[in-house]
Amino acid sequence: MEALEQVQPKKVIRVKGLRKVYRIGDERVVALANINLEILQGQICCIVGTSGSGKSTLLNQLAGLEKPTKGSVFIGKTNISSLSENRLAEFRQRHLGFIFQSYNLMPTMTALENVSLPLIFKGISRSKRKKAALTMLAAVGLKKRAYHKPTQMSGGQQQRVGIARAFVTRPNVIFADEPTGNLDTKTTLEIMKMMVRFARKHHETLIIVTHDPELSDYADRVITLIDGEITSDVLHTPVYNWNGDNAPASDSEQAAPAEGPPEADTPDKETESVLPILMEDPPALPLDIELPDRIEEKGESSL
Ligand SMILES: Nc1ncnc2c1ncn2[C@@H]1O[C@H](COP(=O)(O)OP(=O)(O)OP(=O)(O)O)[C@@H](O)[C@H]1O
Ligand SMILES: [Mg+2]
Repeated sequence: MEALEQVQPKKVIRVKGLRKVYRIGDERVVALANINLEILQGQICCIVGTSGSGKSTLLNQLAGLEKPTKGSVFIGKTNISSLSENRLAEFRQRHLGFIFQSYNLMPTMTALENVSLPLIFKGISRSKRKKAALTMLAAVGLKKRAYHKPTQMSGGQQQRVGIARAFVTRPNVIFADEPTGNLDTKTTLEIMKMMVRFARKHHETLIIVTHDPELSDYADRVITLIDGEITSDVLHTPVYNWNGDNAPASDSEQAAPAEGPPEADTPDKETESVLPILMEDPPALPLDIELPDRIEEKGESSL
């Protein structure tokens, strides 16, 4: 019995009876009707649906960026819907990472400063911040751009800074709303591979909102919304393996993975199954990328 319990994946997010209604004057928009959902540690989830179906609203609710009209969102043991704004902000800094469509980098700061910023909020010393941020920038292939500002970088490079900033604190859950919405196809694949590799490396949960159906190839799970309701929730084996090495995109960037195995090894994307990676410990990780260690604050509690 005990052995069985040990392999049970941890539920990182639990959503119960979630409803979000926006009111503008006399008009009411039911953005989310009645969402019930559980997301496991290490799952890579895509939330898909047409424009206006409620994807961003759901992501914002899961991340505690907006309060629900009804229902609750638990992250770990914490009911984030019941936290005060200050406690919520603290919780987000401690446990969550964010990647945005328009990167949201601080324009006056260098790449290094942008990536260091979340570590400042966590009270990490200057020297540890710099070391961790530089390691993270190297992992996204931007070591040489550490002292560049956002306007001196391409969109793809800016998003890689955004990824480095999101992962540098080793958050439990990373939320990304249309992270590749402003990028071309080749860069989109590079960015997706990178996010998947980083999340897999430390068994972190990644939730991506996208309207690009191809991106769901990378996910363990695809949740489809129509008019604020979940109409389909499918587990499948991603086309790309846990470290993204068999992704077909060209690997011109420094941080992109090495040559992948032959196409015949690619898992069947139609196979609907509970992913073995969710039932086991994360694999030993012979990755060619180095990510910084998690820097703990004094007295920091786990999720
Ligand atoms: N702050 C708001 N005030 C009023 N209505 C809102 C607000 N935010 C979202 N809505 C409405 O809620 C519904 C869901 O919006 P949401 O932004 O979640 O859609 P989406 O699936 O992310 O769409 P897109 O793909 O275009 O980003 C829409 O009808 C939208 O008009
Ligand atoms: Mg949206």
